[in-house]
Amino acid sequence: MIRFTLHSLTVVLLACLASPACTLAQGGEAIRFDTTTKVFRIDAGGVTYAFGVNNAEELQPLYWGRQLAAADKLAAAHTLPEVASFDGPGTVTQGEYKGWGGQLYLEPSLKVSFADGNRDLVLHYVSHSIEGDTLTVLTKDIQQDLFVELRYAVDPATGVLGRSALIRNGTSEPLMIEQAAAATWNLPRGTDYTLRYLTGRWAAEWNLQQEAIRPGQRVLESRRGSTGHQNNPWFAIERGAGQDEDAGDVWFGALAWSGSWRITVEQDQVQQVRVTGGFNPFDFGYKLLPGKTLETPVFYGGYSHDGIGGASRLLHRFELTKILPQAPNPKPRPVIYNSWEATGFDVDEPGQEALAEKAASIGVERFVMDDGWFGQRKTDHAGLGDWYVNPQKFPHGLKPLIDKVHSLGMDFGLWVEPEMVNPNSDLYRKHPDWVLNFTGRPRTEARNQLVLNLARPEVRAYVFHFLDDLVSHNDIAFLKWDYNRNWTEPGWPTVAPDEQKQVYVAYTRNLYSILKELRAKYPKLEIESCSGGGGRVDLGILALTDEVWPSDNTDPFDRLRIQDGFTYAYTPGVMMAWVTDSPGWANNRTTSVSYRFLSSMQGSLGVGANLNHWAPEDFATARDLISAYKSIRDTVQHGSLYRLVSPRDGSEQSVTESVALDKKQAALFTFLHSSTMGYPFPRVFLRGLDPEMEYRVTSISGKLAGDTPATASGSYWMSHGVDVELRGDFQAAAFRFDVEGR
Ligand code: GLA
Repeated sequence: MIRFTLHSLTVVLLACLASPACTLAQGGEAIRFDTTTKVFRIDAGGVTYAFGVNNAEELQPLYWGRQLAAADKLAAAHTLPEVASFDGPGTVTQGEYKGWGGQLYLEPSLKVSFADGNRDLVLHYVSHSIEGDTLTVLTKDIQQDLFVELRYAVDPATGVLGRSALIRNGTSEPLMIEQAAAATWNLPRGTDYTLRYLTGRWAAEWNLQQEAIRPGQRVLESRRGSTGHQNNPWFAIERGAGQDEDAGDVWFGALAWSGSWRITVEQDQVQQVRVTGGFNPFDFGYKLLPGKTLETPVFYGGYSHDGIGGASRLLHRFELTKILPQAPNPKPRPVIYNSWEATGFDVDEPGQEALAEKAASIGVERFVMDDGWFGQRKTDHAGLGDWYVNPQKFPHGLKPLIDKVHSLGMDFGLWVEPEMVNPNSDLYRKHPDWVLNFTGRPRTEARNQLVLNLARPEVRAYVFHFLDDLVSHNDIAFLKWDYNRNWTEPGWPTVAPDEQKQVYVAYTRNLYSILKELRAKYPKLEIESCSGGGGRVDLGILALTDEVWPSDNTDPFDRLRIQDGFTYAYTPGVMMAWVTDSPGWANNRTTSVSYRFLSSMQGSLGVGANLNHWAPEDFATARDLISAYKSIRDTVQHGSLYRLVSPRDGSEQSVTESVALDKKQAALFTFLHSSTMGYPFPRVFLRGLDPEMEYRVTSISGKLAGDTPATASGSYWMSHGVDVELRGDFQAAAFRFDVEGR
C-alpha cells in the first residue's frame, strides 16, 4: 500500500527528481498517481479514467473514455474561470465528489448540517492510498473534522469502476447527513448526448427511454423503500444519436442499492454533464454520531467504444464475473417449473406431485412451489408472517413432496415473502408494532399486507430464524424471495425522532445481512429476487441472489420488449422467463407452444403452464425445445448478446443473437409479429462471429431459405446474412451455429 499526504508528496517529489529512473508515477499497473501534476490515472479494460487535485485543493475530473496512450500526459487540474458573478468557479468546475457549500448551485454529492447550524461543506484532498486495483482518496472539510474517503475499485477486465464514499464524523458533536451520493460521474462539455434509462410499472417493466440531454436535471429515482418498477438504477449516455447498436461512445452506470435511490443527470451552465447517484435524499436524514461512519452504496460506471450494445455486453460480463454470488463462473440456471400461473394459491401435496411428474417428463431440472403453502394462506388476505407448513394442504409437511421431486431427478425450490405480514396472521396479532408505521396514523395496506420493519433487530432476528429453520429442516435448493408492495408511512417509532429516517439505510442493510448470513450458512442455496415481477433488480441485490424475475407479465410477445429492455442493464444469465398458457392472462393473446418457448429461451428458461391441460403434442414440442435449449444455454446465459432487431416502437420483427465466449457457437432467435403485404422477413446479418471459422447451421425451430448453405464462414453469416422463412402472425424461428468439432 502506498499512502501520501501533501507533505510527503513534496518529499517523494524531491527524492524522485534526484533519481534518473523516476517516472513520477507510483502504484500498480492500473492505477497511477503523477506527483508533479497531482493527476490520478486509472487504465483498465481499454478505458482511462483520470482526475486531479486542482489549484483549489479539490478533486476535479479530467478524463473518462477510451484508453489513452501510456505516454499521453494529462495536464494538472485547474478550476474553471467564473462565467459571471452568478456562476463562479465553485459551480462551473466539475468535481469528483462535491459537498454542498461555497458557490455550488448544482447537485451536490454530499450535504450535511453540523451541530452548530453550519451547513457549508467544502472538501479538500488530504491523502491517498493505492492497493492493487483500489484507490482510496481521503478528503476533509476545510474546517470541520468531517472526512470523506472516496473509493475507486477497478475491474481490470472490463474497466468498470466501482465508486463509493465513506463519511466519517470526526467532530465531537452529532451531525445530520441530508444527502449522500456514492459518486458523481462527469462527462466533457457537449450538447449531443443522448440519455437512455429504464421505466415501468407492475407487469410492464423495462421500457427503454431515450432522449437528448438538455440543460437542467433529469431525475431517475425510487421513493418507495425498494428499487421499484418505476425507474431502474441504471443509465447510459451516448455521444451523438446512436445510429448503430454496436458503434459509438457510451458511458453507463448502475447503482448497487435496493432501497430508495436517486440518480440525477444534469447538464450544467457550461454544458457539462454530471451524473450523481446514491441514497435518495427525499425524506432522508442520517444522524451521524461522533466517531461514526456512513458508507454509501457502490455506483458502478463504465465506458464502451462499441455502442450501447457493447456497453450492455461489458455490463453483462461484469455482472457474471464480478457481481453475482457465484462469480466469476456462475452455474447455468436450471430449467425450472413453477405452478403459480397454473394453480395460484391452490397448492397441495397430490396436486404439486402430479405437476412435478409432468414437469420431469419434459426435462425440467428444478420444481418450485409458489405462494400458498404456509400459514392460513388460501388467498392473499391471510398468512404472510406465519411460516409454518399448512397442515390441511401438506398433512405430512413438505418432506413427501420434496422426496417425490428428488425421485424424479429434480431439485426443489420454495416461494417466500419474508419482509411482509398480513394483518390477518398470528405474527401481526402478536406484534402489531413490528411494521413500518407512524404512531396513531393509518397503516395503508397493499395486497392486504404491511411491510415489516426489517431495521428493527427483533424483526431481523425473526426473519432470519424462520428462513434458517425452513432451510435446515427441508432439502431446499432454491428460494424465490418475493416482495409484493412498496412502503407507506415509513415510521420507526421505537427510535428517537431524529433517528427514524435511518430506516432507509438500516432496512436495506439488514436485508442484505440476512441474505449474506443465509448464503454463508447454506452455500448451495440459490435465491431469486422477485418483487411482483421486476421491482427489485439492481446490482446490490444481484450480489446476493442468483437470478431475478423480470416481470409477472409472461405474454410471450410482450416479453420480447420486456426482455429487450432488461438486457440493456442486466445479463440474460439472470433473466428468468417462463412458458405459460395460451391465451395468456395479460392480453388474452393466443400463441403457439413453440413461439412461447422461443421467447423464453432468450433468457433462463422456465415453464409455468398448467401441464394438466397440455396435449401429448405439446409435451413432445416442449421436450424437444428444452433439450435444444440445454445445448445452447451456456451461450445464451453467459455469452455475448447482440440485439440485432429491436422489438421496440411497434417493430414487426425482433431478432437476438447470443455468441459463446470462444465464438464457437451462436444462437439466433427471430420473431415476427405479423406479415403485411406479403413482404418476406428482412435478411438477418449475424454479428460477433469469428470471420475465419466455419459454422454449421442447425434449426432449433423453423426454417431458413432453401438455398442457405449447411456450413459457411463466420464472414458469410455476418456479411451475406440469412433469410428466415417466417410468415403469418406471432411466428418464431431459432437456429444454432456451431463450429464443427466444437
Ligand atoms: C408475485 C410474484 C408472482 C407470484 C405471486 C405469488 O406477484 O411476482 O410470480 O409468486 O407473487 O403471490
